[in-house]
Amino acid sequence: MAGEPQFVEHARDGDVHVLRLANPPVNTLRTEVRAGLLDGIQAATREGARAIVLIGAGRSFSAGAEMTEFGKPRKPPSLPEVFDAIEQSRIPVVAAIHGHALGGGLELALACHARVASPGAQLGLPEVKRGFVPGAGGTQRLPRLIGLEALRLIVSGEPVGAEEAQRLGFVDAVLPNGTGSDLEHAAIAWARENAGRSFTLARDREDRIAGYDAAKFDEAAKRLTARTRGQESPLGCVAAVRAAFTMPFEDGLNVEREQFTRLVQGEQSQALRHVFFGEREAQRIPDLPPDAKPLPVNRLVVIGGGTMGGGIAMSAANHGLPVTMVETSDEALRKGLERCEVNWQRTVKSGKLSQADYEKRRALLSGTTEFEKAVGEADLVIEAVFENMEVKQEVFGRLDKAARPGVVLASNTSTLDIDQIASATQRPELVIGMHFFSPANVMRLLENVKGKATTATAIATATEVGKRIGKLPVLVGNCDGFVGNRMTGKRGPQIEKLLLEGCLPQDIDRVMEAYGMAMGPLATGDLAGLDIGAAVRKARGTVAPIADAVVAAGRLGQKTGKGYYDYDENRRRLPSKEVERIILDLSETMQVRRRRIEDGEILERVLLPMVNEGARILEEGIAYRPIDIDVIFVNGFGWPAFRGGPMFFADRLGLKAVRDKLAHYAEATGDANLKPAALIERLAQEGGSFATLKGPGRV
Ligand code: NAI
Repeated sequence: MAGEPQFVEHARDGDVHVLRLANPPVNTLRTEVRAGLLDGIQAATREGARAIVLIGAGRSFSAGAEMTEFGKPRKPPSLPEVFDAIEQSRIPVVAAIHGHALGGGLELALACHARVASPGAQLGLPEVKRGFVPGAGGTQRLPRLIGLEALRLIVSGEPVGAEEAQRLGFVDAVLPNGTGSDLEHAAIAWARENAGRSFTLARDREDRIAGYDAAKFDEAAKRLTARTRGQESPLGCVAAVRAAFTMPFEDGLNVEREQFTRLVQGEQSQALRHVFFGEREAQRIPDLPPDAKPLPVNRLVVIGGGTMGGGIAMSAANHGLPVTMVETSDEALRKGLERCEVNWQRTVKSGKLSQADYEKRRALLSGTTEFEKAVGEADLVIEAVFENMEVKQEVFGRLDKAARPGVVLASNTSTLDIDQIASATQRPELVIGMHFFSPANVMRLLENVKGKATTATAIATATEVGKRIGKLPVLVGNCDGFVGNRMTGKRGPQIEKLLLEGCLPQDIDRVMEAYGMAMGPLATGDLAGLDIGAAVRKARGTVAPIADAVVAAGRLGQKTGKGYYDYDENRRRLPSKEVERIILDLSETMQVRRRRIEDGEILERVLLPMVNEGARILEEGIAYRPIDIDVIFVNGFGWPAFRGGPMFFADRLGLKAVRDKLAHYAEATGDANLKPAALIERLAQEGGSFATLKGPGRV
């Protein structure tokens, strides 16, 4: 029909009928695509084709179901109806996969009679990462094709390459030169050649699920779910895959459907999808004019080859960006480069990096002590020297003179004022914070910090380079601690009070880790070093009786072998008698009556101060949107994605409850900081939520 988009295109090559999924950019299986497939199978049959090739138009096969259709009444035909039509088709349907076949996209391919793929194709069932299970037969068909390996793929949600998929047994052939239209030609030839074969549908295969060994299955399931910390979807995957091994196909489908329906409506899945969409949303920067262009960056220069500088340099080299590390002495430079090499070599040893790729990365990294010369060749500079304003200003003054005009100068400072740093230059408009998180070659979060004068060009450049070197950039405003550290900093006083009133470090960490945090706050303090917080308190003239006493006892954290915990030779943490003594003594001298504190109270008193500060951050426009804050916590602070982040947590509790609880704890603990933020007051009164907050949070 003229003018109407065709979601499934038809083509004919002799006796082979081609159906092309055409829902750009990634061919999600929206209603029109499903209907088009059903029609396509019928048309091909009617027209007497010998085989059907099913392929994706554009750069990919299919990224799966349309997640925006979730939670709404499903329009027919459903995916299972389409799959039935494929499986009942008298003529074989061959899926030809390039780019990605993910989720429902892979399930579609699994329902076909055969699958061919191009060499670079990626195939996977990532549903578990969105908090549910594959819902259109993936958990039943994949085990029938590849046996117990399916459990690993489905529980991890990690995709595999075409060659691996062929080795495992769910791709029949990897076709050389098979990309885009080339793949179509190759797939047509393959289909023609194989059309006379008798194909066994995945659903009818028995050989790979025969001889089910419950003990072996349990052991694999236990290993695969060992680190999922309270997340439900991996367990749902295990239950569904187990059904594939122990039940007839149709019954297994029912088990899968039950798991899918239960999980997709659950809070964890909502949280995971909130984060998934939020990570894209955070890339859209509201004030940035659409014509703001990033400057071309072909060489990055990192000043300082310490913990952070080394990690940043590695990130650049890992992603193909040439990088120069600048240090003050040959010795420091040697150490900085060596740290990168040792890290890469460890990855080679573990089998995750090939020797050839290691050499490529190593070749992209160079080092020098010739500051001016290196900086003169930079397209972007990221400074990561000591955290000291005088040092930073001195370095930025030199950078400004040595760098070509127009080059952006970024600082990795974690606490210092970007405007003050910028004032040491003649180009404050091109100075920006690029706040990486440790270890910088691993952590995805990048807080880009906008100063008073920072222009759109500088922001666009920092964003673009951040993405290019594998980071998730979130733009934030300039303030003490920016977003993440400013919010976590607010937990401190309540943690001190919890310890004084009855908790021990291990009680608090247990509750936070049971919630799903990668590491509890006290163990995290031990890892980072307790002297850092002590220095900050000293500078600000604040006290924290317990933390100060722990530091005074020479317990600076893991680096001294003891902090809030004792550490054994394997760095395993053990409850400390000495710390318990310090805490009990302080409770007594400060005349605080110790009591048993419920887990729920611990959780609230650790999380709500952060929520309150998050609201203030929105009021001040330091973060653009609540989702930016959640994305920061999930990607930089070990917050479990299946809990959605601090602002999502607040919305779940309801902002009225948040306000009342904050007011209660402010009163009960004498902590003025817990007085509900104006934005929370306003939203609670309006019956609003962070999710529905329109525009900036300013009140
Ligand atoms: P570090 O002490 O490990 O490294 C600093 C390096 O800078 C040293 O190797 C030193 O020789 C070098 N350096 C000092 N002055 C220099 C100059 N004029 N030219 C060239 N090199 C110079 O410190 P780290 O931990 O890497 O921190 C660097 C920056 O990153 C600080 O601003 C810090 O606040 C920030 N940061 C640190 C994080 C962490 O977890 N360590 C996290 C996020 C930011």
